[in-house]
Amino acid sequence: MTKAIIAPSILSADFARLGEETRAVDAAGADWVHLDVMDGHFVPNITFGPAVVKALRPHSAKYFDVHLMIAPADPYLAAFSEAGADGITVHVEAGPHVHRSLQAIRALGRRAGVALNPGTPAALIEPLLGIADLVLVMTVNPGFGGQGFLESALETVARVRAMAAGRLLDIEVDGGIDPGTVGLAASAGANVFVAGSAVFKDGPASYAARIAAIRAGAEAVTGPTLSC
Ligand code: DX5
Ligand code: ZN
Repeated sequence: MTKAIIAPSILSADFARLGEETRAVDAAGADWVHLDVMDGHFVPNITFGPAVVKALRPHSAKYFDVHLMIAPADPYLAAFSEAGADGITVHVEAGPHVHRSLQAIRALGRRAGVALNPGTPAALIEPLLGIADLVLVMTVNPGFGGQGFLESALETVARVRAMAAGRLLDIEVDGGIDPGTVGLAASAGANVFVAGSAVFKDGPASYAARIAAIRAGAEAVTGPTLSC
């Protein structure tokens, strides 16, 4: 079985101490650091831009997984790459030229991801599988941490994994992931698990145990679906 990738989302961290929080989840066993960028236009919330990603870069050598919930995304791809993103994910709903966006991310030397909202059919990303390194399936409506996991998104995860058969593809789930729901997502075919509130809710002393519990929930799932 391929190892589960656990990606704490700093959306749920203490924003007054983001550098320390990034170091803390790195030390607590995070595989990736997930950075949620919101523009108050594509989603009804605003977070941070490339300057914050750049400021956090020296605090961890882990993979920076930048999730762009912005429209348009293309004008900002180079800035996020220069800020230190390892992977950049754009939403398929955010514009008419997502294939071009994925080409641009790869041309910058970064891994290219495409995200799907819970109301978006999996079939929409089928033509993009040849240019995507990662598909992010939202398991809540994007914009806020701490929402309930939408089980209806599991069908999307399963469809994407079936479409990707024979390809190396990371399938990431984002929203409402905790030690209980993570197994459902892993069973459906996800191998990357974003968790915000389930990691950060009680402060740094519990981060290692919380990350370990999410990993255990994912890796308890047996069978071929957890591999990419
Ligand atoms: C939501 C973000 C998520 C968010 C998840 O729009 O994309 O990454 O941080 O938070 P939880 O894990 O609390 O649902
Ligand atoms: Zn996210």
